[in-house]
Amino acid sequence: AGFAAGDDDAFIRCLAAAAVPPRLVHTPGSASYAPTLVSSIRNLRFVTPGTPRPLAIVAAAEAGHAQAAVRCGRRHGVRVRARSGGHDYEGLSYLSLDRRERFAVLDLAALRDVRVDADRAEAWVGSGATLGELYYAVGAASRTLAFPAGVCPTVGVGGHISGGGFGTLMRRYGLAADNVLDAVLVDADGRLLNRTTMGEGLFWAIRGGGGESFGVVLSWKLRLVRVPETVTVFTIRRPRNQSATDLITKWQEISPSLPRDVILRVVVQSQHAQFESLFLGRCRRLARLMRARFPELGMTQSDCQEITWIQSTVYFAFYSSSKPLELLLDRGTEPDRYFKAKSDYVQEPIPRHAWESTWPWLEEHDAGLLILDPYGGEMARVSPAATPFPHRKGNLYNLQYYSFWFEHGAETLERHLSWVRGLYGEMEPYVSKNPRTGYVNYRDMDLGRNEIEGNVTSYTKGKVWGEKYFRGNFERLAAVKAMVDPDDFFRNEQSIPPLPAAK
Ligand code: FDA
Repeated sequence: AGFAAGDDDAFIRCLAAAAVPPRLVHTPGSASYAPTLVSSIRNLRFVTPGTPRPLAIVAAAEAGHAQAAVRCGRRHGVRVRARSGGHDYEGLSYLSLDRRERFAVLDLAALRDVRVDADRAEAWVGSGATLGELYYAVGAASRTLAFPAGVCPTVGVGGHISGGGFGTLMRRYGLAADNVLDAVLVDADGRLLNRTTMGEGLFWAIRGGGGESFGVVLSWKLRLVRVPETVTVFTIRRPRNQSATDLITKWQEISPSLPRDVILRVVVQSQHAQFESLFLGRCRRLARLMRARFPELGMTQSDCQEITWIQSTVYFAFYSSSKPLELLLDRGTEPDRYFKAKSDYVQEPIPRHAWESTWPWLEEHDAGLLILDPYGGEMARVSPAATPFPHRKGNLYNLQYYSFWFEHGAETLERHLSWVRGLYGEMEPYVSKNPRTGYVNYRDMDLGRNEIEGNVTSYTKGKVWGEKYFRGNFERLAAVKAMVDPDDFFRNEQSIPPLPAAK
């Protein structure tokens, strides 16, 4: 089936005929539309009156509803944007930058069951679950099982795993996507497929190739990982005038080559560098390790706290281990801030003088920060072609530039966008080149945007942004796309284009 010319009413009638209850279909005329639309939006930049809105939100409560949304969308010329946790940095799960596009949001928030099988160390999780809900369920089932994924508990499982997903356990266990055993997906024909029926090509693509392009993943079977009953965390803050520049400079050489069971990340904000660590072991050993490898940091046993892994997820999200675990279940309410971020991969340590020159940027702009997430360990062991996520061996760390603000207004927006773009520009000499790479889950429309040629996304134009996220894996992703969705039904401004047939 191709993609018909649009008919909104026919789309809504088709959903009803396919037994999707009308109370799950929110249209702009209904009182539930606006609250449902903003329910998981995280970025105020995309809730302005001018933001293009979906013609309907289909809040799927079971697999059949998602299948109906795809089949009806296809039949009646309505594109479907999947939304799990709504954290997309550029809002692509609920808005379209092409004002003529007629699209519906397929909201998966209700599909969020987590079923943990502690004996087999496996779990099935619905895409609509948040990372916090997943962590909470794993922590409730066992004190020695965990799942390696991102730091922020409100992030949705669906988008996160689709783009890779990294957090405090990545140096020991890799990405969230590295620990997927199976998945259930609705394809472009509305069929429900699992790993066996989708085949290894498509199963490869959905584990890091970015959301939206290949179908709607409804649930994921995960391999849970072993952690000790007691883990150790610490946070050490050093101001600029007390050696922060020297510490960051040295950190670049040390952190990617530390043992795999420790991570030491850095958040640089205002005039401070904050060193945050998780160690899969006891405080005494961590203090000994830091003394031997990074004595300049001055870490001692009095800096550490021994807690459980589940408490560590609360610690990194809220900077306190004494807060209740139930905070992990809070899905967040309305968006409270505007933000814009960009990312880089650093392959050679950045010289001290370059770090010195970032302080004035951070001083000028109190609401800007840098996040340095070290790789190495398991991240460097996985081959760059094993999953679509190519940033493996040779990458010291991921560097994220993040600006956030609270005041509305075009001038404020412009100031913050230029800040983040300006700092990114300054760092160009020191980061990956040819191409300058970035992380797809830190989506950045500045890297490029799809163009439609004929009725499908252009592969040549897509390559411009695509190779920045996926390097050599981009072509293989496009080949999978051509196989599973040649008509390009699932698309957005940075979806994978179908690889044109060889002439
Ligand atoms: P959302 O629902 O917006 O979807 C993102 C993209 O995936 C969209 O294109 C969407 O259409 C598509 N999609 C969503 N569900 C899908 C499904 N079921 N099937 C197919 N496609 C689907 N990352 C990280 O690695 N480590 C971290 O620590 C953090 N921390 C973090 C904090 C905060 C505050 C934010 C806003 C973001 C992060 N991230 C992150 C980035 C995060 O991993 C990224 O934004 C994810 O794509 C978010 O997934 P959601 O499901 O929430 O997004």
